[in-house]
Amino acid sequence: MTDIDQAISKKVNRFDKKIDDFKNKIKDSEDFKVKDEVFDTPTLKALYKLSSKGYLDALGGTISTGKEANVFHALRKLEGEEQELAIKIYRISNSNFKAMQEYLIGDVRFRNIRHTKKDIVLAWTRKEFRNLSRAIECGLHVPKPIITERNILIMEFMGDDNIPYPQLREFVLTPEQAVDICSAVEDFMLRLFRDAELVHGDLSEYNILLEPESMTPVFIDMGQSVTLDHLNARDFLLRDVTNIAHFFAKYGVKMDVESSLEKIIQSRADHQ
Ligand SMILES: Nc1ncnc2c1ncn2[C@@H]1O[C@H](COP(=O)(O)OP(=O)(O)O)[C@@H](O)[C@H]1O
Ligand SMILES: [Mg+2]
Repeated sequence: MTDIDQAISKKVNRFDKKIDDFKNKIKDSEDFKVKDEVFDTPTLKALYKLSSKGYLDALGGTISTGKEANVFHALRKLEGEEQELAIKIYRISNSNFKAMQEYLIGDVRFRNIRHTKKDIVLAWTRKEFRNLSRAIECGLHVPKPIITERNILIMEFMGDDNIPYPQLREFVLTPEQAVDICSAVEDFMLRLFRDAELVHGDLSEYNILLEPESMTPVFIDMGQSVTLDHLNARDFLLRDVTNIAHFFAKYGVKMDVESSLEKIIQSRADHQ
């Protein structure tokens, strides 16, 4: 074995132990089924790979267990500094992959993928990475994606000291805050449409986090976001605008769905 091999093998062993500890932690605290569904052998192998390439040094606790994916906290050492990460792992044994298919069909970027469950989930993971990258390039406030491997997406952790920023729905806003945040969300939809040429597709108080000190919104969960040439892009945009208008109406903020939609679409026409 060369020195490099030895170093890698040491690291993998260490990581093995971490994964074991991690699996035990999950076993203690959560449903067995979820653990087995998420950490199947190919997923563990992909995690080893990411770890041996230096993308990941330690896995932490569960942040969220969603319908399609689990999100975990993790750490890596980068230039001597410890960096917090969020790791989203899409489950292959996924009950909702039929719905995923609808968002993929019609997206020219994913025209050639096979329609097996596995390929759809892997394409979905890459799609979220690409959507986040496009949004970042346009200066939008989303987690910076770092890398994908198989069904795993590693991205910037939006939070502090292990605690993710809370979701918008968890706050009680003052009327002034509601007005400001509503207009920041409208601005996000407009710039995502005009500059990144995407529609979020699942925008709601669940997929918007708020940085508590500045009350700045952070937009997450872009796996389902579609390009504007998608057959249903306009419907998805209408749904996003409607969700947001509905949420802020509770705070007395009047947002007219029709004119907001019109403004977003027109901004792109003016831009071209
Ligand atoms: N980059 C991130 N930083 C911090 N927390 C995150 C991050 N991404 C997701 N989360 C947390 O995990 C939850 C679920 O993530 P999300 O991407 O919305 O997945 P799902 O498809 O399960 O809804 C979010 O509501 C948020 O609390
Ligand atoms: Mg979500």
